[in-house]
Amino acid sequence: MSHSNRHFTPLDLVVLQIDNGLRTIFGKPVVTERSNPQDKVTEKSKQELSTTEKTFSARLMRINHAGEVAAQGLYQGQALTAKLPDVRDKMQRAAEEENDHLAWCERRINELNSHTSYFNPLWYFGSVSIGALAGVAGDKWSLGFVAETERQVVKHLDEHLESISENDVESRAVLEQMKIDEGHHATVAIESGAAELPLPVKQVMALTSKVMTKTAYWV
Ligand SMILES: [Fe+2]
Ligand SMILES: [Fe+2]
Repeated sequence: MSHSNRHFTPLDLVVLQIDNGLRTIFGKPVVTERSNPQDKVTEKSKQELSTTEKTFSARLMRINHAGEVAAQGLYQGQALTAKLPDVRDKMQRAAEEENDHLAWCERRINELNSHTSYFNPLWYFGSVSIGALAGVAGDKWSLGFVAETERQVVKHLDEHLESISENDVESRAVLEQMKIDEGHHATVAIESGAAELPLPVKQVMALTSKVMTKTAYWV
């Protein structure tokens, strides 16, 4: 067993992984000390939403939630195989912030009377595998993967902010803060030594996220 796994046996790691997965998908994942950006929205600025606005917001928030489930899987997969302890520590904070995003999106989806994606277990365990593979390829590739993922997420968030109703100030508050966080995660990854991924890898990633977002929009 490698030194990076210090006092965990391989079985411990598997159990921890499954536990974390179940908490991500069905339970209450460990969040940071930060408050939900929605709580900063004043009563006065809140708007009444039409049914159409609500349905559309819920669909976009479901996509974002599914994306956060996948992000969590990626980070956890990487943590399993990352070689440098400081890389794992830096990514740990990012992973916790992704849990904030998960919780914020889920609350908003519930308020909009909708449900999270039925495919979340698939997004999660698929992403754990991809994250673990990226970690095996080496820390600079694994960090490169984070940087590229976050860049693509920022692009998605921009598109969502353009299309979601201006009246939905609460969803927008969540998306704005997520955008800041994802940009920061990309910067941290780059500063930690991320390698620029080859174009075909970036294209496969964009394609994968397209399949995911299209699916999560509906279910
Ligand atoms: Fe996130
Ligand atoms: Fe992120």
